[in-house]
Amino acid sequence: MPRAVKFSRYGGTEVLEIAEVERPSPGKGEILVRTVVAPINPGEIGIREGVFADFWPAAFPEGQGNDFAGWVAETGDGVSGFAVGDEVIGYAPRAAQADYVVLPATVAARKPAGIAWEQAAPLSAVGVTAWAAVNAVAPAAGETVVVSAAAGGVGVLAAQLAVLRGARVIGTAGRQNSDFLRSIGVVPVLHGEGLSNRIREVAPNGVDAFIDTFGSGNVDVAIALGVQPRRINTIADGRAVARHDVRHQAQEQAFTPELVEELASLVEQGLLSVPIARVYPLEEVRAAYDELGKRHTRGKIVLSLVAASERHTPLR
Ligand SMILES: NC(=O)c1ccc[n+]([C@@H]2O[C@H](COP(=O)([O-])OP(=O)(O)OC[C@H]3O[C@@H](n4cnc5c(N)ncnc54)[C@H](OP(=O)(O)O)[C@@H]3O)[C@@H](O)[C@H]2O)c1
Repeated sequence: MPRAVKFSRYGGTEVLEIAEVERPSPGKGEILVRTVVAPINPGEIGIREGVFADFWPAAFPEGQGNDFAGWVAETGDGVSGFAVGDEVIGYAPRAAQADYVVLPATVAARKPAGIAWEQAAPLSAVGVTAWAAVNAVAPAAGETVVVSAAAGGVGVLAAQLAVLRGARVIGTAGRQNSDFLRSIGVVPVLHGEGLSNRIREVAPNGVDAFIDTFGSGNVDVAIALGVQPRRINTIADGRAVARHDVRHQAQEQAFTPELVEELASLVEQGLLSVPIARVYPLEEVRAAYDELGKRHTRGKIVLSLVAASERHTPLR
């Protein structure tokens, strides 16, 4: 039987189960995808714990995960442009962590054969989010941009996209990520108490834009540094948005399959890298979220649904 991650009550990772489910059938205009990998995201922790129950309630037994990559296993009536076997990158809210996922063909993106499944799948979630955040603050060549949590899932992509625009990028991170950030062209600054002073030291002429991917006071730091609110974007601090009228562009505002394909093309050309911290088999979904919940992931943690030995595209 096909498997799917489900939970039937709010709680810690102990509520996560691998359920046996029917293989879904694609309807008109839909494709059925055999999932190869499904990344995991901090927002899913909040949904599962019930933190967002008032505005994003679960419908038990609830599925989990949004972004995934796999190959087309079946096409529904009226689908043109995709055939069985095509490799795709998808986004299926609360349904991605399953052996089979149904989605409208119009929202599936093509995965280039030359990039690894693990590096392709996150592009429909953190990839698009990072692009939206960078686009919102529109860094010009030569400007100075700060990215908070610059080694995290969204941050590492936002930092690289800002570098590609010719900006000077300062990234906040723990000490263990300093060399890594330098290796992707980012000036590292330690996060935590005293952050604004450390940023001033490396940006004596000021900061033009600020991309916050972590919350916990980063928007206040940006305001204290004199960054204009319209050039601050946060994806993690709704209260700061209300307080300072800063921007909050993320996946929801920017997703198109064409954008996912554009990001995949950057990865294929070696211009954008998607670091993979660890790959867990689907059966270890609880351990995967326990690790993610520590919030020190470099890049992405992904779940694997098809054994690596059956795949032929290496990580790079
Ligand atoms: N709305 C949307 O469309 C959307 C989409 C994706 C994500 N999000 C949200 O965006 C946020 C980031 O997601 P993510 O996947 O990038 O998270 P993540 O990968 O879990 O972030 C981990 C990073 O956070 C850093 N970090 C830990 N403590 C920190 C602190 N006190 N200050 C600054 N950075 C710290 C870590 O750096 P060190 O290890 O170096 O300490 C690590 O690199 C989450 O709130 C998520 O829910 C929203």
